[in-house]
Amino acid sequence: MDQLLKAMECHGWANIPAYLGPLAFCGLRNECQAAWENGEFHRAGVGRGEGLKIRQEIRGDEVMWLDPELESIEQRSYFVAMEGLRLAMNQRFFLGLNDFEGHFAIYPVGAFYKPHLDRHSGTTNRIVTVILYLNPDWQPGDGGELRLWTKSGDREGDSILIEPRMGTLVSFMSGEFWHEVMPANKSRMSITGWLRQRLEPV
Ligand code: OGA
Ligand code: MN
Repeated sequence: MDQLLKAMECHGWANIPAYLGPLAFCGLRNECQAAWENGEFHRAGVGRGEGLKIRQEIRGDEVMWLDPELESIEQRSYFVAMEGLRLAMNQRFFLGLNDFEGHFAIYPVGAFYKPHLDRHSGTTNRIVTVILYLNPDWQPGDGGELRLWTKSGDREGDSILIEPRMGTLVSFMSGEFWHEVMPANKSRMSITGWLRQRLEPV
């Protein structure tokens, strides 16, 4: 956690391989797989609310939103870890994070997600993105890397490619860092969460 906070402080993003030991997340992977086999995923959209659309040419992943009310034992450990991160980031960076949303994501073979920011136009509530990868045995050539442009607001300069290996955790400031998912040559699983500032209704 300290490594993650330090990297967020210096760069605004962090890439931590083996954030927890690979075994810690096996249960999450199994649950993701079981939900997929049960048909509980749906095609991810682009935009939000009324403007939400399926755009195959932009993103091809399928998602299942997590429901904190229905959380399983597997998800509990994940929520506890996210809660720890939320509190630590508030303490260190005064971000006022008071909310969380997250989903499992599966990229079937051939799926990708074109360069984007994780903030919907006209909103400010997603502050920090946290992605945890759930793919044991990921090999170079399996594709599906996350490309992250390493300078805030920049989508032309330096970028890094991160393999979606089991236990790797990536985080970045949602509204600042451009990123994309390269086409997956093998089905790719992850869990993505956003630490948010809940907007008060006016
Ligand atoms: C997203 C996203 C990246 C990844 O869901 O918004 O960019 O590596 N995911 O899964
Ligand atoms: Mn994204």
